Amino acid sequence: MINPHGSQEFNTLYISDDTERAQLIAEATSLRNIIVDSAAASNAVMLASGYFNPLTGYMSLADCLSVSKSMTTAAGLFWPTPVANRVNSADGLSIDQQIALKDPNVEGNPLLAIMTISSIDEASDTQISTMAEQIFGTTDRQHPGAKTFMEAGNVFLGGDIQVLNYSYFETDFPDTFRTATQIREQISANGWQKVVAFQTRNPMHLAHEELCRIAMERLDADGCVIHMLLGQLKSGDIPADVRDACIRKMAEVYFPANSVMVTGYGFDMLYAGPREAVLHAVFRQNMGASHLIVGRDHAGVGDYYGAFDAQTIFDTLPEGVLDIEIFKADHTAWSKKLNKVVMMREAPDHEKDDFVLLSGTRVREMLSEGIAPPPEFSRPEVAKILIDHYQIQA
Ligand code: ADX
Repeated sequence: MINPHGSQEFNTLYISDDTERAQLIAEATSLRNIIVDSAAASNAVMLASGYFNPLTGYMSLADCLSVSKSMTTAAGLFWPTPVANRVNSADGLSIDQQIALKDPNVEGNPLLAIMTISSIDEASDTQISTMAEQIFGTTDRQHPGAKTFMEAGNVFLGGDIQVLNYSYFETDFPDTFRTATQIREQISANGWQKVVAFQTRNPMHLAHEELCRIAMERLDADGCVIHMLLGQLKSGDIPADVRDACIRKMAEVYFPANSVMVTGYGFDMLYAGPREAVLHAVFRQNMGASHLIVGRDHAGVGDYYGAFDAQTIFDTLPEGVLDIEIFKADHTAWSKKLNKVVMMREAPDHEKDDFVLLSGTRVREMLSEGIAPPPEFSRPEVAKILIDHYQIQA
């Protein structure tokens, strides 16, 4: 199986030994505690799950500046985005201090992790803006990821962490949330060698489903890991439980048994387009995938990125920084002439009207009105789940 990123041994920072965990939880009661922001909490979950191997904790400000600028930490590790714990004030915090990190996303803010602080640095507003520009390509507060990044605390706490649970992901999504290690084990148990990963934050429509099928066929892959984001999204995006139900139904009805795994990971969406695509590749390598599908406007939002910027960024990476390969997919849609889903550039004789193309806004309107999109766009089983969701919302 493909090696994890940056190390042979896996650094999973979850304390899996029950006795040790109980001891740390007891010790944490006497530590200074802080309620971290959601980005830091989801970073902790990704670190705990092995997806952020070989990192051992939160980056220092120097590393955050360095990865934002050149996708490399000060020590030379290839990494595309900051993995930070940002707070508003360093009052009462000191180097080598152990602190308890409390979960902002769970009722009562339970203990999530213990951190040993190794750096405390306050970023200037200019440094924050520069990083936002480098990561998101914008400092516009209309961009949901840039807004979250710009508005987080200016104090960067760097240091190793020991993680004590997987936040709400394990409890809310017991059948879907999986760590990188668990996915590796399942891939191995399935006997899969060539494994395609599919990133998604949406319910899967026919184009998404066919993208997985086309990638599997062309790569002659043994299986596909559908890997959905379970963390925080911008308002208007479809909640994870609804997406999960859609994807499970689609996989059950339309894929042969044991050819796809439906799984998810606990991370907040960055909407960082190209940079996030590279991060996606890093953590799919960590979970044992040999290939990642990157299609049209991957991890994008609004008009901030070109439709294929998330593909071309991979052509600019230094040779050999990643082992995982990218399956670059063109805009995929139903062809009325060929009666199947095709990649549009592979049907050069087609006019725009020869495809069934619906905007996200139009699809949402239809679903809210209880109208199923045409079967050339959505599987009826998926449309039904989505209509039920929109009706409850109304
Ligand atoms: S994402 O933010 O997680 O990338 P989404 O769930 O919509 O959003 O997309 C998942 C993957 O499918 C991404 O690789 C995206 O580029 C790709 N994709 C989505 N729709 C299409 C399409 N019609 N044609 C080609 N690729 C697509």
